[in-house]
Amino acid sequence: MYLGADYYPEHWEKERWPIDADLMQRAGISLVRLSEFAWSKLEPEDDLYDFAWLDEAMDILNEKGVKVVLSTPTAAPPSWLIGKHLQILPLLKNGQRMGFGKRRHYCITNRTYYHFSERIIRKLAEHYKNNAQVIGWQVDNEFGNPKCYCDNCKKEFQHWLKLKYKTLENLNQSWGNAFWSHDYICWEQIPLPIVDYHNPSFDLDFKRFFSDMNVKYSNMQIELLKSISPDKFVTHNFMGLFPELNYYDLAEKYDFVSWDNYPQGLEKRFQVALAHDVMRGLKKKNFWVMEQQCGCITREDITPALSPGEMRLWTYHSYAHGAEAVVYFRWRACTFGIEQFHSGILQHDGTDKSIAYKETAQIASEIDRIRAQLEGSKVISPVAIIYDYENIWVNYSYQEKPMYNYSDEILRFYKAIRKKGINVDIVKPTDDFSKYKVVVAPLMYIVDDETANNIKKYVKEGGTFIAGFRFGIKDRHSNIVKSILPGKLRELFGMSIYAWDNLRERKIEVQTSSGEVYQADTFADLITPEKAKPLAEYKNSWHASYAAVTVNTFAKGKSYYVGCGLPQGFYDKFIAEILKGLVPEGIKVPDEVEITLRQKNGKKFIFVMNFSDKSSRIFLNKEYTELKEKKKLQGEINLDPFEVLILL
Ligand code: GLA
Ligand code: ZN
Repeated sequence: MYLGADYYPEHWEKERWPIDADLMQRAGISLVRLSEFAWSKLEPEDDLYDFAWLDEAMDILNEKGVKVVLSTPTAAPPSWLIGKHLQILPLLKNGQRMGFGKRRHYCITNRTYYHFSERIIRKLAEHYKNNAQVIGWQVDNEFGNPKCYCDNCKKEFQHWLKLKYKTLENLNQSWGNAFWSHDYICWEQIPLPIVDYHNPSFDLDFKRFFSDMNVKYSNMQIELLKSISPDKFVTHNFMGLFPELNYYDLAEKYDFVSWDNYPQGLEKRFQVALAHDVMRGLKKKNFWVMEQQCGCITREDITPALSPGEMRLWTYHSYAHGAEAVVYFRWRACTFGIEQFHSGILQHDGTDKSIAYKETAQIASEIDRIRAQLEGSKVISPVAIIYDYENIWVNYSYQEKPMYNYSDEILRFYKAIRKKGINVDIVKPTDDFSKYKVVVAPLMYIVDDETANNIKKYVKEGGTFIAGFRFGIKDRHSNIVKSILPGKLRELFGMSIYAWDNLRERKIEVQTSSGEVYQADTFADLITPEKAKPLAEYKNSWHASYAAVTVNTFAKGKSYYVGCGLPQGFYDKFIAEILKGLVPEGIKVPDEVEITLRQKNGKKFIFVMNFSDKSSRIFLNKEYTELKEKKKLQGEINLDPFEVLILL
C-alpha cells in the first residue's frame, strides 16, 4: 500500500531536488511517478539522449527511500519530432491538422510515430532495466483522445473492415447499406465518419476500430517494456468512466490497472465509487490510483479547494474500493504552463505549510499503522452490475451524443445498492455470474446468443436478474432485432413489449402494487405481462394499460424488468426489498455515510466514511476495533466531518 506523488523534477531547479526528497520522506511519500511528459528532456534532439538529470534526481530520491514508477513519455512528442514528421499530428474532423502546443498530439496509427515511440522506450527501458529503485512502468498518459481522420487512419479502417467482414456484400448487409443508397462497391470508397447523422452500424465499427488502434499501440509499448525489463510491472493511467475505449481490451495485457481520480466535489461520491469499481472490474483485481486529487484543479476554470480532511476522505475511499496504492497529482503546484493554477501537495511556495502536506503526513502515518493488516485484502461483492462498452457505444445513435446516459442509468441502481452498504462488482455480459446473488443490467441494448444463454443459465440455477429499459433491442451490428421484445429472453421475463414511449417531455405516472406513485422519466417500455407479475403500472393516458415493472419466476431464479426511469426513491425501496438478506448487519449509518468492505483471511475490514462537512451519527450494535487508532467502539458514535473509520 504505497502512498506516492507525481513528481516532475524537470520543472524545478536542481538545487531544489534534495529539499523535495527530504520533504517527501518527512511526509511519508515513498513513491513517485516520473518522466511522464519529459520526452524533450530525455531526447532533446533526434537520437541524442540525456538521462543524466533523471539519474541524478532518482539518486537523490533513493537516498530518502523513494521508489519510482517511470513513464514512457509518448503522450507528448517533442517539437523536433513534429517538425520533421508533420503527419504525426492528428487530422481533426474539421479537416484541420492539430497544431503543436498541447499534448496527445499524435495519430494513433502513424507508423513513423510507432518507430520513434519504440526507440525512446527501448532506450529508457535498457537504461533502467537493472535499477531496483524503478518498480514499474506507466505507459503513455490517459489514452483515448483525440481521434484522427487522416488518410492513413482511413486505410487502416478499411483494412480493419476487410478483415472483419471478408466481403463487401457481407459488410453492406451487416450495415444495412440499402438505406439511403449507402452500398459500397469497393473497400476504398468507405470513408471515415466525418459527416453527422451517419449509419449507426458504421459508427459502431468506427468506435471499435478506434479502440482497437489504441489497444494495439498500447500493447506495442507493453510488449516492448516486458521484453526488456520483464521483472517490472507495467500499468497505464485509465480515466474511470471514460466511455470511448473498450477498457476491458485495453487492460488485458497490463499487470494491473491504474486510474486518475479527480472527484471534484462530495456530490460526486457515487460516480467516483462506481469508477473505482469499474476499474477493479477490468482485471478483477485491485488497482492503483496513479493521480489522486489533492487540492483545486484546473480544467476550464479553477475548481474549489478541498476542505481540510477531504483529501484524506477521498484517499481512504480509494483504498476502500480496492486501491493498492494512491499517488497524488502532483507533488508541487507548477509556477508555469497550462496547469499553473493546479494544486499540488505543496503549493507554489514549496513550503511544508500547505493543508495537503500536513494531511499527507497524517494519512501516511495512519497507513503505516494499518498496512500489514490491510494489504492484499479484497473487495468481495454479492451483487454485480453489467458494464459493457459496446452497450455504451450503440446508445450513440448519432455519433456525438448518446441517447441516454449509460452511467447515469447504472447509477440509479448502484446508488440504491451502495446506500445499503453492499459492495458491487462490475462485470462483462459473458462473465460467470454464479457467485452473485443479484446481477443488474441497466440500458443493455445488445443481448446476443452467448449473453442470453449466460443470463438464462444464471437465473435457472437460482440467480436474481434485474434488467433496465431497452433491454435486448439491438444486435452486434447495432441493428434493431426483428423479434418481439425483450427478444431472446422473453420467456425469462415472462412478458412482451409491443409498445414504448420516449418520456423526455411527457409526464407519466407509475403506481406500485403497494400504492406509491412516482413520475416516470427518460423512457418507457410498455410491458404486457404474460407469466410475469406486475410490480408497478403506468397510470395516465393510453400508457395505463401496460405494466412498468415486472417480476417473473423462472426455474429456481427470478427476473425483474424495470421498464422506465423512475425517481431515486423508487430504486432505493425496490433494491432494499430484493437485497434484504445481504445488508451487513450491526452498523446503521445515515445516507451521507458510506460503508465499504475489504476482506482478507476471513477478516472483514469495514470502511465507514462520512461524506459530509458536518458531523454524523452512526450506530454500532456490537464492539468493533478501529484499526488506525486501535480503539474499541460500540453504540452511538459521532463522526466528525469527512471522518473515516476502519472497523474490524
Ligand atoms: C490528467 C492528466 C494530468 C493532469 C491532470 C490535471 O488526469 O493525466 O497530467 O493534466 O489531468 O487534473
Ligand atoms: Zn491518423
